[in-house]
Amino acid sequence: MALDPYQSTPVVRVSTVIRNIGQLVTIAQQPIPGASGPLQVLERALLGVSQNRIVWLGQEGEGEPQFQTDTPGTDITVIDAREAVVTPGFVDSHTHLLFAGNRAEEFHMRRSGIGYGELLARGLGILTTMNATRAADEETLLTLARERLVSLNAYGTTTVEIKTGYGLSLEAEEVSLRLINKLNATSEIAQPATQKVRVVPTFLGAHSVPPEYRDRRAAYVDLVLHEMLPRFVGLARFCDVFCEREAFTYDESLRILTRAKELGYYLKLHADQLSPAGGARLAAELGAISADHLDHASDPDLEAMREAGVVATLLPGCSYTLRSPYPSARRFLDHGLHVALATDFNPGTSYCENMQMILGLAMSAMHMSLEEALTATTINGARALALQDEVGSLELGKQCDLIFWSIQDYREIGYHFGTNLVQSTFTQHT
Ligand code: NIG
Ligand code: FE
Repeated sequence: MALDPYQSTPVVRVSTVIRNIGQLVTIAQQPIPGASGPLQVLERALLGVSQNRIVWLGQEGEGEPQFQTDTPGTDITVIDAREAVVTPGFVDSHTHLLFAGNRAEEFHMRRSGIGYGELLARGLGILTTMNATRAADEETLLTLARERLVSLNAYGTTTVEIKTGYGLSLEAEEVSLRLINKLNATSEIAQPATQKVRVVPTFLGAHSVPPEYRDRRAAYVDLVLHEMLPRFVGLARFCDVFCEREAFTYDESLRILTRAKELGYYLKLHADQLSPAGGARLAAELGAISADHLDHASDPDLEAMREAGVVATLLPGCSYTLRSPYPSARRFLDHGLHVALATDFNPGTSYCENMQMILGLAMSAMHMSLEEALTATTINGARALALQDEVGSLELGKQCDLIFWSIQDYREIGYHFGTNLVQSTFTQHT
């Protein structure tokens, strides 16, 4: 091929170049030259990275830029991907992973016929975990949470949302939020084992009415409204409410979330999980970022959510655990909603930190295609955290959070099941 004398090779400054990628599943939102399919897959790809941002992506060979170090005096690190399949890291947009104890005993009680709602009404369920969490010291809680972060990262998660909601007092909720912030990859005390996971904190003081307020629930709502919410500004990105017959009513949720919005929190809801309690409608009315669960959301609710741009987050781990019918993902997709999938990792209804399992359940029991399920566990998880410009797909300028898979072809994801197909994850938080 004749050289074009007017076209010089561009120079791209990087700290790291990742070569020899067999398939780069970008999930890009814009077409990428040379990429194919709805997921924009590039074969024989390479990535240039500077300060954990993607500064180059394309096919190897012709058209490659000239890479120069972004830090004079330091060599470029070259990583050979050995033809691995590479995707964005999973974004798990709904977890309750900061807690002590577990509820194996209640799990088996439920298996013998006692309902989840009935346990809540008896002061068990969430309140069992509240008691264990309040009784644990901070170091114990941190250690448990770190172990869980290491585990979910081993299954491919690189961004995780973590909710409070097992403290349920001003002091205990504040401790939970401070610990969740400490767990973040970029926090001063982050440890090597957790440095690969970006943590997004959510305040869920309205998870359950604690026993001290059982007979004066209005006083607890006031505590959330007037003391917790103003005090936690800056500590939590989101405010969430468990809007449910056994938890908080539509009106209580409306008051809490309206105030939260005024204070600058993004909004989420646990909506219509056990009964049609108005959560999905409220999410649309308030312009929440996501409404989660949605087992009992009606068609008009879904219409309203689409109009308002609310992400529908489905949590198949709950259906699996509670043996309740799986919500039909097709219904949400046919309504034109952005569908996200998350683990809902918690000790009651979904004791699972593995996004591959969630993706597999969605493909099998909720009839999602691989393309839909991969989209739901990456870019749509990012949308559910209002982080779609930062993570969830591999595009220029975004964070370079990757999964290296131990498979030959990305179509093995969701097909080969019950084993961990993730070899490792890559991030370089600074
Ligand atoms: O998302 N529904 C409320 N919260 C959790 C369950 C928490 C628990 O049972 O401890 C959920 O299902
Ligand atoms: Fe939840």
